Amino acid sequence: MKSGHNLYMANENKRSAFTKATTFVKLSGIPGPRGYLYFKYVRLFQKNILQAFTKVNKEYGEIASFPWPMNSVIVYSPKLIKEILVDNNRSYIKGEQIEEIRAVVGNGLATNNNHDSWLKSRKLMAREFNKKSVKKFYDIFSKECHKSISQISSQKISQVDICEVMKLLTFNIATATTLGKKLSSEDAVKVNEAVHYTSIVTYERIFQFFPIPYWVPTLKNLNFNMHFKNLNSIVKGIISEEKNNKNASGESILEKLVQAKDEETGFSFKETELRDEILTLLIAGHETSAHTLTWAFGLLAKHPDIQQKLYFQIKDLTDPEEITNHPYLIQVIKETMRLYPAFPVLSRKANQNLKLGKYHLDKETNVVIPIYVTQRSTEYWDEPSTFNPDRFEGDSGEKLDKSYQYLPFSRGPRRCIAELFAMDEMCLIIKYFITELQFQLNGELPEDIAQVSLKPKGGMRLSLKTRVK
Ligand code: HEM
Repeated sequence: MKSGHNLYMANENKRSAFTKATTFVKLSGIPGPRGYLYFKYVRLFQKNILQAFTKVNKEYGEIASFPWPMNSVIVYSPKLIKEILVDNNRSYIKGEQIEEIRAVVGNGLATNNNHDSWLKSRKLMAREFNKKSVKKFYDIFSKECHKSISQISSQKISQVDICEVMKLLTFNIATATTLGKKLSSEDAVKVNEAVHYTSIVTYERIFQFFPIPYWVPTLKNLNFNMHFKNLNSIVKGIISEEKNNKNASGESILEKLVQAKDEETGFSFKETELRDEILTLLIAGHETSAHTLTWAFGLLAKHPDIQQKLYFQIKDLTDPEEITNHPYLIQVIKETMRLYPAFPVLSRKANQNLKLGKYHLDKETNVVIPIYVTQRSTEYWDEPSTFNPDRFEGDSGEKLDKSYQYLPFSRGPRRCIAELFAMDEMCLIIKYFITELQFQLNGELPEDIAQVSLKPKGGMRLSLKTRVK
């Protein structure tokens, strides 16, 4: 049976076990483990991917190779990363992992590997993420934030899993900005569960050598397809409602995208393309910010001196423009993303035989960039494990922003389209929460695990005190 939307089965996923099993690339000129050692690393990757990437870097330096069936190189050096993401970006497509994510979001912006159609979409979508468009969302950011804070305050709770709070808050923001109206509570639960379940399954499959196709009726596949069906029908329902809505005010991203047309080329989105873009925004747009905020609150709780310094600097600000431009607040977020980048690993695939530095890569080689490791490497950072927002101060901060040792939003043409949106959203959320609540951490920060985005294992429990003003 073939996958297809009308059957409510996952989108077609080109990462077939057969293609994977029969693809061989030559990696002989690039150091890396072989034989027994190779399988030891594979086991470590399956057990703890971040530890594995860190160990590979320590053993092999700027680049390491893992031949069949991984057919991969792992790249750590800023110079080589620049070559991949920017200078020679047209020689790469998005990595193989994207095929698993495609099963959920189809051919949306983040997963589209056809350069021409990606560029058309990127051009239309970019308008919705420039400063002027993002500013229009400030009211939504503030309203949702205050709702969340008053819920916490009214319950008079003294401990909270801030990860759950942030996931709900950024989910509400993502639906309000993207869809323009609240989902019914029943649909909101379905979308939330679906996003959660599909991202866990996607993550598991990324590290399986030969994942079972979605049409095989295993329990997991049946559940996945059920969640996919929910996502698909809810989003399609909203799109067709919007298409027939003669009174659209054009304020949500969806409304804008329904109406969007490129004046030069006449390109506009078809229904399935719209569905893919909307699902992409819902999925890319909430866990990333939620997890970054979770780590930010965790780090601030662990460092009360930094929390107090931030509090005194921002407590009296009222103008959202001032808040979103506040240097120390931005430094805190940047330093959080250095230690805990929402996407700890970027990935690409060579779409032709090419040169990377002095190395030769065959077409089809998977190229993996664990920015998590580069952003914590003693080679590029003083005391990398210390949370120190001051490293992003002034000129040195600007230099870091331009460097390739720091790339939480990636770089080059495929960099995050919503960097401004995410930064402003996070600035406002931190400001409103820190002004009302003081966070404390009992013990150590939880372990970080990479499940597509970087999350705290078991959540992030923090103690709360209402601030006396
Ligand atoms: C802290 C928050 C966020 C971080 C750290 C982040 C990070 C990233 C990164 C690293 C990429 C590029 C991956 C690569 O080069 O392979 C990316 C792409 C993307 N992000 Fe974000 N993101 C965040 C928030 C958001 C939000 C809020 C949205 C939507 C509202 C969003 C939408 C996208 C989209 C659509 C792409 C694909 C762009 C393309 O390929 O043209 N992101 N993001």
